[in-house]
Amino acid sequence: MELKQTKIKKIDIKDICKLYENADIKEAADIIRSGGLVAFPTETVYGLGANALMSEAAKKIYAAKGRPSDNPLIVHISKTEDVNNIAREIPEIFYKLAECFWPGPMTVVLKKRIIIPDDTSGGLDTVAVRLPDNNIARALIEVSKVPIAAPSANTSGRPSPTRASHVFDDMDGRIDMIIDGGTVGIGVESTIVDLTGDIPTLLRPGAVTVEMLQEVCTEVDIDPAIEHLLASGEAPKAPGMKYKHYAPKADMKMLKGNEAAVLDYLKKEISKSEIKTAILTVDEHWAVLEKIIEDNKKENIKLLSLGSLKDMKTVAHNLFDVLRKCDELGVSTILSESFDESGIGRAIMNRLKKASGFNIIYLGEL
Ligand code: TXA
Ligand code: MG
Repeated sequence: MELKQTKIKKIDIKDICKLYENADIKEAADIIRSGGLVAFPTETVYGLGANALMSEAAKKIYAAKGRPSDNPLIVHISKTEDVNNIAREIPEIFYKLAECFWPGPMTVVLKKRIIIPDDTSGGLDTVAVRLPDNNIARALIEVSKVPIAAPSANTSGRPSPTRASHVFDDMDGRIDMIIDGGTVGIGVESTIVDLTGDIPTLLRPGAVTVEMLQEVCTEVDIDPAIEHLLASGEAPKAPGMKYKHYAPKADMKMLKGNEAAVLDYLKKEISKSEIKTAILTVDEHWAVLEKIIEDNKKENIKLLSLGSLKDMKTVAHNLFDVLRKCDELGVSTILSESFDESGIGRAIMNRLKKASGFNIIYLGEL
């Protein structure tokens, strides 16, 4: 593809009224309206935005990311009522969910209106809609005066970007502008809930947890693709969930079992491994593993902490950054600890499992 000059604009204004008047937001909005690509921060991960109503603009997103064209884009709006412009036959449960979780890290799948081109919806009759809880994102949508289609702003298959520098690493020369709004808050992509069937169905776990959804909906189904590798012939309801995703370049394995069994396995691996390896661990295990590495004089083993077991939000926040660090370190193998799958742990484990291609080693009882 033809190389572009990618402009980077740093914005640290919090006040949304000031953002509406900001010259960089106005310039970004002009780019979006005229069919260009602008990466921008959201509360979850950075998005790669384009005019959702313009086929040609959506096609540019697929080209810049190297994304398969059957993988639909999430359409971002700045006010709940704007959902009526792009979706139809909206069920009552949508309004309850929007009331509780918008603006915020929840995307809903609804039947689409024909104004949404097939290139945005990946040829589906449905559209995924999200109202982000980030003032830069909302101001950009508002000033653009069009809904913005935005996948995560990474090269397809790589970990999602949680900082502008991650976007720059993947997208420099491929897009018109990057708005640098600092490090994102949440760090994993939005929860996706399909509302086109009788029972709301979770298609991708995120910071709006199943437990939180269950407080609003009487029943919530969970798409099997979230939890385990599908058998051939089975397809996930979110087309994007079938691809190997969020993946670092190294070969990755997950270790699942009780603490003692996992530490024992790591101890043995450290003492025998001769290849460049990253161990993704937690603060609580850092000292014991570091000592084993030092005792064995293993300079080929790099220890990276995802955070504390007592603070799963921070683990979610650090996840993609740590996966990208593994690439920077040039390791050929990654061994990662596992987490409890309740609350946001479900989203963390879903991303880790997918990053490893569901390569899980079961050790001892949980
Ligand atoms: O947090 C997020 O959702 C971020 C920020 C930028 O908003 N966006 C994001 O987009 O994660 P992306 O493209 O990386 O992931 C979108 C997922 C894909 O798995 C896609 O298949 C699914 O949403 N999706 C989009 N439209 C859909 C639809 N109509 N039905 C089912 N799944 C859909
Ligand atoms: Mg993505």
